[in-house]
Amino acid sequence: MSSDLRRRLFGGSRRVGLVAVVLAAFATASAEQRTTAGVAAASEREFRADRHYLNLPIRNGAPKRKIVLLVDGSEVTSGSVELADSGADWWAYIDISRWRGHSLTLRSTGPSTPSGGLNAIEASDSIRDSDSLYREKLRPQLHFSPRRGWMNDPNGLVFYHGEYHLFFQHNPYGWSWGNMHWGHAVSRDLVHWDELGDVLAPDHLGAMFSGSAVVDHGNTSGLGAAGKDPLVLVYTAWGQPAVQCLAFSDDGRTFAKYDCNPILPNITPGNRDPRVFWHARTQRWIMVLFVEEPAGQTDGRGSSPKKHLVRLFTSRNLRNWEPAGTVNGGIGDDHFLYECPDLFELPVSGDPAQTRWILTAADGEYAIGSFEGETFVPEVSRLVGNYGSGFYAAQTFNDVPDGRRIQIGWGQMPSPGMSFNQLQLLPCELRLIRTDAGLRLARTPIRELESLRDGPDQSGSLGSFHGEIVEVRADLVPRGAELFRFDVRGAKIVYDAGSHEITINGITAPAPLVLGHQRIAVYVDRTLLEVFASDGITYVPVAFIPKPENRCVDVNVDAPDAGPLVLRVYELKSIWTP
Ligand code: FRU
Repeated sequence: MSSDLRRRLFGGSRRVGLVAVVLAAFATASAEQRTTAGVAAASEREFRADRHYLNLPIRNGAPKRKIVLLVDGSEVTSGSVELADSGADWWAYIDISRWRGHSLTLRSTGPSTPSGGLNAIEASDSIRDSDSLYREKLRPQLHFSPRRGWMNDPNGLVFYHGEYHLFFQHNPYGWSWGNMHWGHAVSRDLVHWDELGDVLAPDHLGAMFSGSAVVDHGNTSGLGAAGKDPLVLVYTAWGQPAVQCLAFSDDGRTFAKYDCNPILPNITPGNRDPRVFWHARTQRWIMVLFVEEPAGQTDGRGSSPKKHLVRLFTSRNLRNWEPAGTVNGGIGDDHFLYECPDLFELPVSGDPAQTRWILTAADGEYAIGSFEGETFVPEVSRLVGNYGSGFYAAQTFNDVPDGRRIQIGWGQMPSPGMSFNQLQLLPCELRLIRTDAGLRLARTPIRELESLRDGPDQSGSLGSFHGEIVEVRADLVPRGAELFRFDVRGAKIVYDAGSHEITINGITAPAPLVLGHQRIAVYVDRTLLEVFASDGITYVPVAFIPKPENRCVDVNVDAPDAGPLVLRVYELKSIWTP
């Protein structure tokens, strides 16, 4: 197979759920071997690609085997898989529809005993156990999660051809991190997502680490077909060395890797996570890249910590990049500006004549400053982005039609016992507002989420409230040092008007009043709680699995002369039902 065909075959993606043409598939074990127990166990299986999927039995913690997939004898990808010899915890799948009619080989290498699990792999027109898809016990109902396998960072957030695209770090074959692919989902409203197949699989340059996506208006890269503006993905290939690469598409479905990858050579061994955007004033593309350098000192443990830097690059065509500025982050365990940087402009309190640039990175800490096209100059640094646990690697969308700055972060909230793991946090609009303490980012869940409210406000009948997925809104005007207590399906949220702090299941965060008001929004899903206070200046996402039988919401104020409290309580619909 030509390398171009190989790239396109594996780069292609197909929507699941199209009419399946039911053809007889045959799968035969070849190269069978005998284990010492005398049970036949294959080290290689051959399939004719007449079905849509290969379903793979997975047992979490089983020995990892390298599984290589060959199409017509040429290797197209490989992965490290915890194949279940018996008793699968769950089933992963490979979409083989793009190779229809070709001959496929799955080869198992690794631990010397051949895996009986290879024999259990089945070709099918459906994903195994798909009848319970999106209805699993711990499937988040408000938050995106992958159908199967592990997910971490959101990647390539962009609006293109009428759809929002969410790519994500995906391990299609494991419940834990590994085998990094780019998964892919699309949405028309940022609320309901349709997961498509993976678009980038590991290749000879390495695993597919995080990055971003741009709409190349005017086809500056020349990667689009004549007259088309391509969607260009910019990602890290995590090999030896780690380098930055491009892939592109004219339809937002099928992606090809760029022939001349990499487009940016290795700078230092840890470099990764290219975030690219168009800078209209200088008419250039800007890349912010996470780079690590030796700090040139040793710590108390005798090791040499690394300095975390954000390096900037500019380009006229996405293919050739010139170095520009550098911004210093933390050193070693100080994770300021560590991994997944993002840089964007926001108006101050909505005034487009006054703007600032925000530089943020994986843990959400941020700096506010200026950027004229070369380097970022901070005015204030190290502002706290969230007070929760599990917010990581957030990225903002490019090209949102109405100009809002919308961010999605990875929610490090596990789904134990499920066939998938982790989720993406609620899409939030970011604003820069003036506060008594100076300029601050405020984060509010996007207004589109209101479409999930299932019926009217039920705050007047909390005694009979019985909701699973819940939104609570409260607007308090404290008079003194009241304690406002909320119990939302067992999650305990207390606003202390005396200390201006909010405590969520034991996590305390500052929550100042805004013009005398404390506005709080709480969202409870099956594996987490997201709390927004002080009009979004305070944000606290927390892993939390409510007890299934507790469907109650309760609100109490402990002072008889407490200030007014306006409450709204909604039961929410699932994002998985249209
Ligand atoms: C952040 C991160 C990125 C990297 C990716 C790999 O969570 O470590 O720096 O590109 O995850 O999955």
